[in-house]
Amino acid sequence: MSVIEKISRRRFLNYSAASLLALAGTPKLVQAMQGMSTLPKLPPRKASPNFKADVELELFAQAATVPILVGQATAVMQYTAKLVRGPKETLATIPSSYLGPIIRLQKGQKVRIRFHNGLAEPSVTHWHGLHVPAEMDGHPLYAIGSGETLVYEFEVLNRAGMNIYHPHPHEATAKQVYHGLAGALLVNDQEEAALGLPSGEYEIPIVIQDRLFDSQNQLIYVRNMHDRMLGFYGDHILVNGQANYQLKLASRAYRLRVMNGSNARIYKLGWDDGTPITVIGTDGGLLEAPHTLPYAMLAPGERLDIWADFSGRELGSQLVMRSLAFTGALPKMGMMMHQGMLPMGSEFPIFTATVSQKTSDSPKLPGQLSTFTRYKTSDTANPEKPVPIGISEGPMSMLLNGRPYSYNEPQDFERIKLGSIQLMEIFHAHGGGHGMGGNAADSDDGKGEQHGMGGMGGRHGRMGMGGMRHGNMGGMMGMGMMMSMAHPIHLHGQQFQIISRSVGDGAGEGYASVREGFIDTGLKDTVLVMPGEKVRIIKPFQDFKGLFMYHCHNLEHEDMGMMREFLVE
Ligand code: C2O
Ligand code: CU
Ligand code: CU
Repeated sequence: MSVIEKISRRRFLNYSAASLLALAGTPKLVQAMQGMSTLPKLPPRKASPNFKADVELELFAQAATVPILVGQATAVMQYTAKLVRGPKETLATIPSSYLGPIIRLQKGQKVRIRFHNGLAEPSVTHWHGLHVPAEMDGHPLYAIGSGETLVYEFEVLNRAGMNIYHPHPHEATAKQVYHGLAGALLVNDQEEAALGLPSGEYEIPIVIQDRLFDSQNQLIYVRNMHDRMLGFYGDHILVNGQANYQLKLASRAYRLRVMNGSNARIYKLGWDDGTPITVIGTDGGLLEAPHTLPYAMLAPGERLDIWADFSGRELGSQLVMRSLAFTGALPKMGMMMHQGMLPMGSEFPIFTATVSQKTSDSPKLPGQLSTFTRYKTSDTANPEKPVPIGISEGPMSMLLNGRPYSYNEPQDFERIKLGSIQLMEIFHAHGGGHGMGGNAADSDDGKGEQHGMGGMGGRHGRMGMGGMRHGNMGGMMGMGMMMSMAHPIHLHGQQFQIISRSVGDGAGEGYASVREGFIDTGLKDTVLVMPGEKVRIIKPFQDFKGLFMYHCHNLEHEDMGMMREFLVE
């Protein structure tokens, strides 16, 4: 153990003792940290005879052993599926990949999925990006035990886009995803079909993940508290479950459906020869028009639809997609503790495309791609009073709106009226050791109180995090600064629109190395919020009542409780 590691370790231990003490007045926090927060156990949902499915799938999760690296095979958890009814293109396996099969659905289809849990532990599958009823969303409440079957039934309301299916069990999402449970769920619609975008062999999924292996080629997961606080990082970059991913392409246009399926790693995507990145879609589907930028940031849970045109390139020529250098996503202290061989923000190749066939016919990039309703602040129910999503980072606690996850205990501002369109503001609720209240009060628009942060906790007759930190945690000054890091914030349910980003002092120099890589013009369900950044979004809450989660998609953070719920009623 290096000196730095020793010091930081000791500091962490001190902090954690201090924080536990300080939090003694908030039983929920302590409970959550000790993993005592529990969810009721429901009987697994059964098929309803009145639901006439166009598509019916069996989806299995089970342990498997697959070849990933040269040599010994790797023990993973794996999704497999079987088509019972519906078009045969509904399922496609990615050759030699441990990832789940690609599920391809059409807008308007009625879908029944029987999820069989063949794992030795509880699980539930969430359709990240899909707008489905609360009880079909894979909320941890619906997790089923080993050997049980859960039936989902929903209609595809989404427009064309790339979504993700992955587990969402209470406090075990990160581990299950890391061990291999994830897959792409594509929706197609007529608006998309009319464009004649590259399809078939010219449409390629690119699921990017980082993994850490031991000398026996087995996956290593969280080893210590740092791995949780900062998120877990691997030093092998896998694409579609394969190391050193190679594509052999024709000299024409391709559509790359890129997903960041990593637990915590953020990528800064760029072509090695400086060719700009042409983006045609984001999480929630096609943009209105293509957007070209020097590089594109891609945080866990985010997707990008990339137009990659190899026309005119010579036979044998290569283009490498790299993650380019950036800073600022992790605290300096964190960077030092981040001992992996591949620090976040370092530069490395992701995959190599080689032109292995010459062709002269290629589709042209359409100038217009799609239309969708663009929301303005004046369309929202609360133009003066954004719903707060306050990020707070402390030792052993990653919180949203000052609280850890707690099932079905919405605070007042987490209750949302069905059918409403909401203005929301995601911000860092600390800064240099300030508590929640502190930052809200001196936020630059002077409208801090609007967040209702002052009442956070106090309203319920007990001290909230903010107060605690101010009152009892003087020794932790600087902790907020130290821990300040980037968080990909994900909201379940309908896709949202990003209407503004603003950066304050907390942003630091690193911001300049990422700021040109955001695509804020499309529909999104996950947004990367850099340290010091404040992001305003507009999100509709239509069609379905019930509990819809919002959380950090750094999956270690999610499992630590950096997750809350909106109750739509
Ligand atoms: Cu991708 Cu709540 O999840
Ligand atoms: Cu989700
Ligand atoms: Cu986070």
